[in-house]
Amino acid sequence: MKDSIGCAVVGYGPTYNFGWMHGKWIEDVPALRFLAICEKDPERAAQARQDFPGAAVYEDLDEMLEREDIDLVSVVTSHNTHARLAVQCLQAGKHTVVEKPLCLNTAEADAMIRAAREAGKTLATFHNRRHDGNVRAIKEVIELGEIGQVFDIQLSACGYGRPDGWWRSRKEVSGGLFYDWGSHAIDWVLSMVPSPVKQVTGFFHKLLWHESSNEDQTRAVILFENGTVADITQSSIAYAGRPLWRILGTEGAVIDTGENAIRGYCQELIGPSGGSFKLITASGERDIPYKESDWITYYRDMADHLLKGASVPVSAEDGRRVIAVLETAEQSARSGRSEVPRYL
Ligand SMILES: NC(=O)c1ccc[n+]([C@@H]2O[C@H](COP(=O)([O-])OP(=O)(O)OC[C@H]3O[C@@H](n4cnc5c(N)ncnc54)[C@H](O)[C@@H]3O)[C@@H](O)[C@H]2O)c1
Repeated sequence: MKDSIGCAVVGYGPTYNFGWMHGKWIEDVPALRFLAICEKDPERAAQARQDFPGAAVYEDLDEMLEREDIDLVSVVTSHNTHARLAVQCLQAGKHTVVEKPLCLNTAEADAMIRAAREAGKTLATFHNRRHDGNVRAIKEVIELGEIGQVFDIQLSACGYGRPDGWWRSRKEVSGGLFYDWGSHAIDWVLSMVPSPVKQVTGFFHKLLWHESSNEDQTRAVILFENGTVADITQSSIAYAGRPLWRILGTEGAVIDTGENAIRGYCQELIGPSGGSFKLITASGERDIPYKESDWITYYRDMADHLLKGASVPVSAEDGRRVIAVLETAEQSARSGRSEVPRYL
């Protein structure tokens, strides 16, 4: 039985510095050894060498995967590469963590899950933002029953602005407007509502930013089997916003603007949360402080999974559920009727 896990990262991009973040998170867990980084852009590879002098830096993934001391690879690249690179890592006999979104569609997700089963290795999704300070605090209040039975959830990221020209605004690379923030949002809702999804209705708008192939606004309305309805909306053409969260229960409501929920995003191992959300019940209105945005938990849990047989922090199947909802929302937006997600 091993007592430590050799780790590597593929993708050391400049956008959010997330290859660096993964390296730092891994280094912070004593049972994980951060051994290598693979980055195909020579400038970024040079940056990786400077930031992590103790790790070997490769520009070719096959070469890095030849190392027998690497047990776990984290894929931190653009969305359209996740499926191919994860399958490559799994077929080389590595446990694999894939940044969110797991991939672009359920066919890719199925091929990834199949590759993991054939290799007998763990495939996990990096939904770190389940640990956001506001999400953790809101979940606790709901689980304590403070707002009674939840029946209506609105979750929104709405603003007005021309998209940048980078890969995130190109649908064939990003998956569409919904795949970046929306994959976190759908994961939050799926992990908050203890019921299977019954149907999804999508409303997608493409009206203004024609230089971007992403949608301008996307909405998924999820109906769960227990009757809960969740409306998740993301917009780059909204002149007026809505709160991040509005949750209605039979005995109260939660309103959260999300302000300061993840202070220190992409700079600190644990984003110390500031701020609070509003809890409204029959006894009045209270501000409930956020908890810590405890993202480091993910790699601690992964070490416990690989070394002690604990459960996977976020399974590939959980990552696939998010993709199934995103895919079904788009299908529904095209067909004009509610659709049922294709589950495993
Ligand atoms: N979980 C979160 O909170 C969070 C935050 C930011 C980004 N992300 C995710 O991280 C991933 C990367 O996003 P980003 O903004 O860092 O992208 P980015 O474009 O800045 O970086 C990606 C890097 O991967 C490299 N790359 C691509 N294919 C490669 C290959 N085959 N071999 C080696 N290197 C390769 C590119 O050269 C690039 O430097 C995305 O999935 C994104 O959604 C997650």
